[in-house]
Amino acid sequence: MKYTRIKGTVDIYGDEMDYWLAIENATRQVANLFGYSEIRTPIIEPTELFVRSVGQETDMVQKEMYTFTDRGGRSITLRPEGTAPVVRAFIENSMINLGFPQRFFYIGPMFRYERPQKGRQRQFHQVGFELLGPSPTADAEIIHIAVRILKEIGLSKFKVVINSIGCDKCRPRYKEALKEYYSHHLDEVCDDCKRRYSTNILRLLDCKVDVEIAKAAPKSVDYFCDECREHYTRLKDLLKLLDIDFEEDHRLVRGLDYYNRTVFEIRHELLGAQDAIAGGGRYDKLVEELGGPHVPALGFAMGMERIILAMKEEGVKPPEALQHQVFIAHVGDVMEPVFRLAEDLRREGITVDVEVMERSLRAQLKHADRIGARIVVIAGENELSRDVVVVRDMESGEQSEVDLGFAVDFIIDKLKKM
Ligand code: HAM
Repeated sequence: MKYTRIKGTVDIYGDEMDYWLAIENATRQVANLFGYSEIRTPIIEPTELFVRSVGQETDMVQKEMYTFTDRGGRSITLRPEGTAPVVRAFIENSMINLGFPQRFFYIGPMFRYERPQKGRQRQFHQVGFELLGPSPTADAEIIHIAVRILKEIGLSKFKVVINSIGCDKCRPRYKEALKEYYSHHLDEVCDDCKRRYSTNILRLLDCKVDVEIAKAAPKSVDYFCDECREHYTRLKDLLKLLDIDFEEDHRLVRGLDYYNRTVFEIRHELLGAQDAIAGGGRYDKLVEELGGPHVPALGFAMGMERIILAMKEEGVKPPEALQHQVFIAHVGDVMEPVFRLAEDLRREGITVDVEVMERSLRAQLKHADRIGARIVVIAGENELSRDVVVVRDMESGEQSEVDLGFAVDFIIDKLKKM
């Protein structure tokens, strides 16, 4: 019996890991610079949490959730996204008592039963940021963070696309206008759009098929209430202040029900169909809807697989996460000085591999070459009886005998010069 991965999942290992660590490191660094603390919520949550927040009629809830009944008869869902779990945790742990604003970030796997293709998986990974309790200036901070992380990673061929979908006060009027407009095009639009006409009219705007019809549709900006207009104008002013280039697109509405006002996406130029590397927006009603107090909030998430595709397209090479600096080859009964030397080097922060297979010296040197060790220490019984080891610079092939007592300094010095 041969076991294989579940469709739409991947194993991540080897050089590929460097990409993941580059994203995680950039995320942690930027999170730290902006004062966001990490939050880890469970992978499994009550199904109802996502139905209530993401929305009963959304594709995510209708078609994409991994839902099962556990042995206790509860309906459980593997989290398809991270915002609802963060809000649940915020309410459940009474974090409101800790004051405002509260800033969180998370890194982890999400699960959606979608048709796998380039940039789309069933288990994928997100980096996400959520800011609870913010004033309008927070919208600019959230977009700023997303852009900062992408730049930190080394990406440049992306664009920020923003829109506002208004609020409960002004959106009904806008929806009416859309209904009126689309009622004249119902026989031209695709089946999905026909279905969504009565369940989720905004989604007709981001249909990938009926683009021309959507382009000519009424725009939310023309239906804003005063507060929404002011909010949107302020966001644009602040983005300019921060030197962040952006485009406006009235067709950007996003597929989740919890959004209001600001929505945004970051699209990568070289990714093709699945070009959204990040998406987010404001969700001022979600905390209340999930049983908490009124807490305006917003956030975004970035797809890590898509960022890696973008890095490869742009030729961004992540730093090597694991560098085999020193390999200690040994022959004979020399483990005591070998372990001591290895520990002395590690105490200096140097990565040290010690031979564990007890192979011939030739095989050990071949292994050192394969893992790309920069320096090989050869510890033989003969040499150690004279208190010396052989140190070989793998780049130049130069080799010298070094007193055991000076070996650490000698190796540090050599590594510095490489
Ligand atoms: P989302 O747009 O559904 O938003 O997902 C955010 C990002 O996750 C997407 O832009 C994409 O890069 C990535 N992504 C989504 N689905 C897949 C998939 N099947 N395979 C690979 N990558 C994928 C959210 O999840 C919201 N919770 C974002 C948010 C946070 N809004 C406010 N706060």
